[in-house]
Amino acid sequence: MTDAKREHWDEVYRTKAADSVSWYQPTPEPSLKALDALHLPAEASLIDVGGGASSLVDRLIERGWSDLTVLDIAAPALDVAKARLGYDAIRVAWVVADVTIWRPWRYYDVWHDRAVFHFLTEPEQRLDYRHALEAGTAAGGVVIIATFAPDGPERCSGLPVQRYDAAALAAEFSPAFMLERDWREEHTTPGGGRQSFQWCVLHRR
Ligand SMILES: C[S@@+](CC[C@H](N)C(=O)[O-])C[C@H]1O[C@@H](n2cnc3c(N)ncnc32)[C@H](O)[C@@H]1O
Repeated sequence: MTDAKREHWDEVYRTKAADSVSWYQPTPEPSLKALDALHLPAEASLIDVGGGASSLVDRLIERGWSDLTVLDIAAPALDVAKARLGYDAIRVAWVVADVTIWRPWRYYDVWHDRAVFHFLTEPEQRLDYRHALEAGTAAGGVVIIATFAPDGPERCSGLPVQRYDAAALAAEFSPAFMLERDWREEHTTPGGGRQSFQWCVLHRR
């Protein structure tokens, strides 16, 4: 299962320009706004789960964040991000892993996931994800997560997705996590399409 998943994502990042994929954002505005609202110090730690080639870490390095990790199943995705960052790539811990199998050895203050959890269409996969999340966060830890909303696409990158409203997404992480804030976002794809996203910020009890 993981091999097929990894091959799928490796192929995506090997064959498509990072700024041509549907989930591409020139700037990760919703994530940065969510982080701003949390008023965290730059010493806070953050893991971008399924971060792919996202420029979230670039923007956080510019803001002085110093404890950053990006995890992705696809090594070629991380290679894109590392090449873009150049020398600054050494400021980031890069992890090639399937989040449903990976187990963190430390806690993160912020667990960020944009458009990864929604690929877990089986309950067992979501349980495995929660195990990783709960092992990687302590009381007070924050999750910033975005999935397709109920009126969002049924597939992404050729794969089926599970869509969520705020209540359903928060229920996936209850009772360990409490919903603090939620909002919807209309993402514009590089091709000009519109995709409804559901965002949630949750706190670990
Ligand atoms: C839709 S893309 C979003 C990328 C990034 N979060 C962003 O907002 O630009 C989904 C990402 O999740 C990664 N991914 C998919 N399944 C994964 C898994 N089980 N474990 C880790 N990464 C995964 C893919 O390689 C891809 O980079």
